[in-house]
Formats: sequence, C-alpha cells, structure tokens
Amino acid sequence: MQHPFSETRTLFPILTRKAQLSSCSQSALALPVRAAIQDYLASWQEDGMDWMGWMEAVNDAKSEFAKLIHAHPDEIAVMSSVSDIASSLGSALTFEPAQNGIVVGDIDFPSIGHVWLAHERKGAKVRFVQPDAEHCISLAAYAETIDRHTALVSVSHVSYYNGFLQDIAGVARLAHAHGALVFVDAYQSAGAIDIDVERDQIDVLASGAQKFMLGCPGIAFAYVRRAVAQRLFPSNTGWFGRVNPFAFDIHGLDFAKGAARFNTGTPPMVNAFAARAALKLLNSLDIPTVETYLRHLSGVALEEARRLGLELASPADPHRKGATTAVKVKDAARIERLMAEKGFIVSARNDVIRIAPHFYNTEQEVIGALRTLSGMLAG
Ligand SMILES: Cc1ncc(COP(=O)(O)O)c(C=O)c1O
Repeated sequence: MQHPFSETRTLFPILTRKAQLSSCSQSALALPVRAAIQDYLASWQEDGMDWMGWMEAVNDAKSEFAKLIHAHPDEIAVMSSVSDIASSLGSALTFEPAQNGIVVGDIDFPSIGHVWLAHERKGAKVRFVQPDAEHCISLAAYAETIDRHTALVSVSHVSYYNGFLQDIAGVARLAHAHGALVFVDAYQSAGAIDIDVERDQIDVLASGAQKFMLGCPGIAFAYVRRAVAQRLFPSNTGWFGRVNPFAFDIHGLDFAKGAARFNTGTPPMVNAFAARAALKLLNSLDIPTVETYLRHLSGVALEEARRLGLELASPADPHRKGATTAVKVKDAARIERLMAEKGFIVSARNDVIRIAPHFYNTEQEVIGALRTLSGMLAG
C-alpha cells in the first residue's frame, strides 16, 4: 500500500533521525503543536495575561475534539486526565442498592479500575469481566456479567496492553438493554480510529491528548451525551461547571447545561494550545483513511513478527486490533531503552514491547523496529 500521508512527515522533525513508534504512549511532536505552545508563552510574556484568548484556545480544542468523534461542542467537557474524567463520572452516580453495579474489563487500564473500586466506599459493587486466552474480552463475557443491578459499564475501546479492539457499539447495546450507562475509555483509539459516538450510542467517552491525538499530557476531553448530562450532578465540580462561572456567587451551586457541568477548575490552557493545534492537524486528515492505513501497518507488523518467530500478545487478526502491536519480551523496560539507543522509540508495558505507529510512520519503520527487536532478543 502506498503511504497516503507521506507528505506529512516533514511536519515531524524527529522522523529524520528516529523512528518514533510510541503513539500508545506519546506521539511525535509536530511543528504546528510546538508553535502553538510557543504562542502561549509569547502571549504570556508579551501580554502578561489574556484570559479571553486562552479560553478561546480551550473552546476551540473542545470543538476540534467534538469533530473528531462526531459530537457537538456542547457535549464536551475539559479536564486534566482520563482518570479525572472517570472520577467525575463516578461522583455523579448514586449507586442505590438496586442498581449499584459497575462492570469493567479485567484488562482495562488499571487507573480506571482504581477509580471504580474507590466508589465501593459509596456503595458501588465492581465486577471485572474476564478476558480469553488471547487477552481479548468477548461480548458474551460482558453479557454474562451485566445484569439489572448494573449502573455503569466501563469499556476500553482499544487495549493499552495489546491493542485489542472492542466492539463498543455491541457493549453499549448490552448496557442499555439493562438500563445501564456506558463509559468508553478511548485513550488508545481517538485519533487513530474513526469514532462516532452517535452511531455507537455512547453515553460518556474520554480521551487525553498525549497518545494518538498528537498532543501533550495534562488535558483530557469528556464527551457526555446531552440527555445523559442533564440528569447527572457531579460532586467533583468547580466554578467552570457553573451556568455562569463568572457570577462569583459562593452560594449558587447551579449546574451548567450539558457536558459543561463536568468542567471543574481553571482549564489547562497551555495544554489546550497544544491540543487545538494537534486536533486541527488530525481533523485536516481523513480519519477513516488513517484507520485503514494503520490497519495495513498492523497487517505488516503481524506478518513480520510471525516471520521472525516473535511471541505476540496482540490478536492475530488486524481487524481485531488498533494500531498497537505487542510483542512478549523479558525485561521490557531494558529493551525499550536499548531500542531507543538504536533509534527506535517503542513503549514497554509489563511483559511486552508495544510498537504503535501513527499515520506518519512507514512500513519500513515498523519492519525495522521488529527486526531490531528480534536481533536483540536473539543476542
Ligand atoms: C487506555 C488508557 N486509559 C487511561 C489511561 C490513564 O490516563 P490518565 O493518565 O490521563 O488518567 C491510560 C494511560 O496510559 C490509558 O492508556
């Protein structure tokens, strides 16, 4: 397959020296994202303070995220991390005894499990859905775990560990059939997969900017479906969650319309500058083509890994995974360091090395990383 985004490579200076294949952790820095951070610094240095301009960056970033997932800007709130978003959602649920269940995947990102477990003190009961031998969770396993006591089903779109791609529309159908809400952790998919929250009937979805969204840490976006937002009152709140944040009325706890009620304190403005530029760049591409290209790179990675005899932790079918391909290794952290010394930026987690290309990467970079890894494991 021809590289459909080869002309974008000049936007990522690091690619002239290194193969950055770590989008499951941190994507490469794009020139417009760097310039946006410098714009914030220039504004701070030259103007001293520009609340209006800085808030404009936050609102623009929200709009760009909305576009990326086929939502409306008034369905987006801004926080600092995906963990914060899950905590805020939990703070809005009451966990009455008749409907106090939280169902979460056993292989989902640990922070999300920690947030739900913390709500057991408020009466929640957490049930973990078990994966199969391939580290994938079937819809049947969700169906067995969700029941009429379930208040919330929390699902990872793409696994941080092995890239397994979940059928979130299927999970949403199961949740809704039992009157439960569905929360999607899209941190490993947003920016790499064409997400449509309307089509898939998602209630709440979260992603941070650092991974496939090309931004930096410290900012995360929450989609909250309009009708759902109206009946939720998060106790994790702050002045930006009010109808008018600038009313400065200490007694007036009103909740803004829609997702805005999930805003908390002063938004992370410098990160919003970066996120606005990053999301604009992503939205200037055709995301379904990005998804198709990354599936192609998955096929290339799986085939090369098999040829080299590497042990894979990822599903064998490219249609069942996102961009990340995970190879089992001993001492993953050491291998990550050695790979970086050889010019391949990959990411270690537990017992795997994750190779996570984005649209700017080439087949040669993916194959080169796997051959270098294989050589290292053999030597
Ligand atoms: C799938 C997934 N969810 C959640 C997180 C945690 O996000 P945050 O640090 O923004 O809370 C990560 C971090 O790697 C992740 O990969």
